[in-house]
Amino acid sequence: MSTNPPTSPPKGVEPLAARAYELRASIRHHNERYYGNDEPEISDSAYDALVRELIEIETDHPELLTQDSPTQTPGAAAGQSPFSPVRHIQPMLSLDNAFDNDGIAAWVVRLEKLVDTPIAYVGEPKLDGLAISLLYENGRLVRCATRGDGETGEDVTQNVMTIADIPHVLTGEDIPTSMEVRGEAFMPLEVFEALRAERLARIDAGEKVSGPEFKNPRNTAAGSLRQLDSKVTASRRLSFYAYQIGAQEGGKEHKTHQALLDWLRGAGLPINPRIEPLKDLADIQRFCASVEEHRHDLGYEIDGAVIKVDDLAQRLEMGFTSRAPRWALAVKFAPEERHTKLIDIKVSIGRTGRVTPFAELEPVFVGGSTVAVATLHNEDDITRRDVRPGDTVIVRKAGDVIPEIVGAVLAERDPSSLPWSFPRLCPTCAAPLVRLEGEANTYCVNSECEAQRLQRIAHFASRGALDLEGLGEERVQWIIDAGLLKDVADIFTLTVNSLAQVTGPPKGKRKGIRIGEKAATKTMVSIDAAKQAPIARILTGLGIQHVGPTVAEALTRSIRDLDEIANASVDVLTEIDGVGPIIAESLVSYFSVDGNRDVLNRLRSAGVILRAPEEDQREVLPQTLEGVSVVVTGTIDGFSRESAEDAITSRGGKAVGSVSKKTSFVVVGENPGSKAAKAESLGVPILDGEGFVRLLEEGPGAFSADAE
Ligand code: IVH
Repeated sequence: MSTNPPTSPPKGVEPLAARAYELRASIRHHNERYYGNDEPEISDSAYDALVRELIEIETDHPELLTQDSPTQTPGAAAGQSPFSPVRHIQPMLSLDNAFDNDGIAAWVVRLEKLVDTPIAYVGEPKLDGLAISLLYENGRLVRCATRGDGETGEDVTQNVMTIADIPHVLTGEDIPTSMEVRGEAFMPLEVFEALRAERLARIDAGEKVSGPEFKNPRNTAAGSLRQLDSKVTASRRLSFYAYQIGAQEGGKEHKTHQALLDWLRGAGLPINPRIEPLKDLADIQRFCASVEEHRHDLGYEIDGAVIKVDDLAQRLEMGFTSRAPRWALAVKFAPEERHTKLIDIKVSIGRTGRVTPFAELEPVFVGGSTVAVATLHNEDDITRRDVRPGDTVIVRKAGDVIPEIVGAVLAERDPSSLPWSFPRLCPTCAAPLVRLEGEANTYCVNSECEAQRLQRIAHFASRGALDLEGLGEERVQWIIDAGLLKDVADIFTLTVNSLAQVTGPPKGKRKGIRIGEKAATKTMVSIDAAKQAPIARILTGLGIQHVGPTVAEALTRSIRDLDEIANASVDVLTEIDGVGPIIAESLVSYFSVDGNRDVLNRLRSAGVILRAPEEDQREVLPQTLEGVSVVVTGTIDGFSRESAEDAITSRGGKAVGSVSKKTSFVVVGENPGSKAAKAESLGVPILDGEGFVRLLEEGPGAFSADAE
């Protein structure tokens, strides 16, 4: 294993090293979304594909394997959680997967070679929730932990204790001195739907509802277990089924899995009634088909079946691979598919002018959420699938995130329908669209195109770039329409006054909404802070083709000045780790356009720092918060956690994590944790979101006794 620095690829092994580097960054990002935020952006299968690709590169090129690769440390990044780490006594392993009958047969054949005696099996539904480990000592529940990376999870004892299905004290005979009970916490569909309905009713009643959207039962269950206030967990009415044990000391030694499950049931733990003993391969395959057929009748979500060897002595003989036991197999269902009507095919224009076709669908519930649009990627993709407006199409959501159209149901096609043809002109600016030979993508090459302008500015303001508050796509469109924005540099010419006057278009009989002073002030606070954003974010924000956050980081780590990057040649750029010829050409071609140079110059004139500052140069904003320590808890309208902290530190203040007597202010947003109560008990001044903005602008003096 190489000991090169954590994330940069070794020199001279482009493009594989660069690809491994990108994959590591991307997998880390998705781990964080999945484990940290419970909000995955890509499907499980797309994630698996990234991991597989990285493992393949690292296996073929061991010199590219780094110690910090996510393949070496699966799961969540440690140390970012508000819950303390718990080391499992026995690790919580993963399961190997099979996707069809052949995969199951191959597993059975492998097992039969490992032991001389006939094998009996047990089949279980594979619950789509969260694996939990419950530690019972002398029959008392003493600690509950999430799976985490399998070795170390998070201590969620208080929250898990609120799950009504889980006994706090075991009953019956042969209670072990110590036992780790493993099982799945999940949200029954009925509960999930009630939660969503309640949230929608509150929105309909005009209430401002913050917090998560409840996308699907799994994420909602995960979010519910990671609450800082266990009363919230209790209100989420989670369920639990036990299916395994980890370490055990004392108590009865069971000979089979079924006997163990019987004992657990007798001790008061809930066991899934759908668990069945299975004799042989045919029986396993029948069980899997039956579970799949009835997957929607269960009242909770499952994503497959788990088949386990029943005899525990045989399990010992079979043993483990590094990540999974040989004696168990997860049989994953094919991604769920549903039929719906394809209403129309339209195209959208991205910030680089790329034209992406997408399908407008009659909304359909598939894979845990409602789908109304699906991307069709490019012209060839549509030709290959031959989907036409009016068709009944098959929609699939692999895992849970990105919906795709599998194809049309030809038997239901209107015989008079014609294949869809790709537009020749840009639907926004009417310029001819261009598809270069050998390229799959089509482009609108008119850089004055209004659709591109909107996307470029919205991208600059987006989370992945400068994260500017209140500048989502819709608002950006309003501000463009008001004549205030032509390019990203104009953002820095906005003022509270000019922004506050901007009004959206009328909706039906209702007048358009005016942005107003309050929202405009918040937006301006974040625009001001963005002047000192890391230059990698500004570079990302320019939206140069092939220059996403990872590449921008690599570039600005080597060249710490955006003007220098703009002047660099292809040769100089390709010297940089992680930058290949395609990226370098893209940068050079971008900065060869006068208008793009001009944007950079105007950003500088507006006070945006284009050179990575030394620590002691961060003095551009008025230092209103010198010597002031601020704790932020809960969601503050208009700020992300990072942007709130940035706003404090860029004004000379200290953003601190916990409340003490020395804390100057505690800012309390929606769903605050226990910090709000602590501030109250210590008499630390508490501010709401508006007070926070005032504090940033005016400093602590605004709240002293003699202030107005
Ligand atoms: S047994 C060593 N049984 O599947 C075996 N797991 O892909 C440990 N899961 O992390 C797992 N239903 O969250 C087992 N009936 C079941 C299951 C199950 C769902 C989950 C569990 C585990 C994941 C592995």
